[in-house]
Amino acid sequence: MQFKNVLAVETSCDDTSAAIVTAEGFVRSVVSASQVQAHLPFGGIVPEIASRNHTHYLLPIIDEALKQAGMKLSEVDGFVVTSAPGLIGSLLVGLVSIKSLALAEGKPFIGVNHLEGHLLAPFLKDDKYAPPTDFTYPYIGLAISGGHTSLYEIRALGDYDVLGHTIDDAAGEAFDKFAKMIGLGFPGGVFVDQVAAMGGKVNAFHFPRALSRDGTYNFSFSGLKTAAQRTVESLAPAQREQLKAELKMWREKNLPQGSLLSDFCASFQEAVVDVLVMRLGQGVARTGLKRAVLTGGVSANSRLRARAQEWAVRDGVQLVVPPIRYCTDNAAMIGYAGILRLNKGEFSSQDLGPSPKAPLGNHLR
Ligand code: KG4
Ligand code: ZN
Repeated sequence: MQFKNVLAVETSCDDTSAAIVTAEGFVRSVVSASQVQAHLPFGGIVPEIASRNHTHYLLPIIDEALKQAGMKLSEVDGFVVTSAPGLIGSLLVGLVSIKSLALAEGKPFIGVNHLEGHLLAPFLKDDKYAPPTDFTYPYIGLAISGGHTSLYEIRALGDYDVLGHTIDDAAGEAFDKFAKMIGLGFPGGVFVDQVAAMGGKVNAFHFPRALSRDGTYNFSFSGLKTAAQRTVESLAPAQREQLKAELKMWREKNLPQGSLLSDFCASFQEAVVDVLVMRLGQGVARTGLKRAVLTGGVSANSRLRARAQEWAVRDGVQLVVPPIRYCTDNAAMIGYAGILRLNKGEFSSQDLGPSPKAPLGNHLR
């Protein structure tokens, strides 16, 4: 049987999302609820709150996704859910819901790896966006989010080599920890991006670029976090006061251009971006592939997008960065990975359980 469309659900972390996706990657609808407000007072994601909110939001979101696609549940050919990796309680909510729907409708379902969803997101399209018509496998995929930083060679569906991965913090985690440390709040990546763009000088502070020289393409961001902490601690009292005053202005939305705060953010951001762009370049050099993809929440970063684009033009690489709605966690990317697999004859059984940790692809080293 050929699956023309699927209902997909993504609940691996703190976003609740449902989508209807076709076998061509056309997103008929995607509806998501962010839980940022619920986790804000805690300065990070609280797993128990995340799963409780998923139970609250998921069914209305599924109804809304069907409604926006103009479909009834019975018109869906199959079901897809993120089954790994992620927070166990969060994954469970999506998995149990999709298993129940599949059982009730008597249709197949498949559990997919969240990272596979991110890596195939460049193929998604809708009424407003389509990837370049000549974009295809194979390509270099850099998946950068709050939980992952991995460089892949994507050869075909299910044929992925891991060229490198983070050995400590993920890039998004580094942004979030830095933002929390300096008082910008949660979730920090987007705030660092915004403040840096307010005239911040990228070389005002020196931060290390951790690039292993052991022949691997791994990443490490914990040293950068420590360096930022030391920089904060070594600020002169007058600078500390200035930073505090600027934070207050930022919260009140009247931070002027070119502040110490924006210099700090821009310098930190540049250190992360330098490493990411360099690794992209190394992935291309190693494989000879002239096609690259940025995906995951951190690929929303405006400086990274600009720098990666510059690099791509200079080196003659076709760079595809999906629109932000398909870079951050969403069910459309999960649906697309799932429908491709269903159409290859794969499906999951009702025994499938969630896996909090699930490596994707062949580790070369
Ligand atoms: O892919 P995603 O939505 O969820 C995970 O799977 O983790 O990524 C979320 C991460 C967070 O760490 C967030 O701070 C980061 O993406 N992020 C950004 C930006 N927007 C989101 N980091 C830097 N700049 C941004 N504009
Ligand atoms: Zn993600």
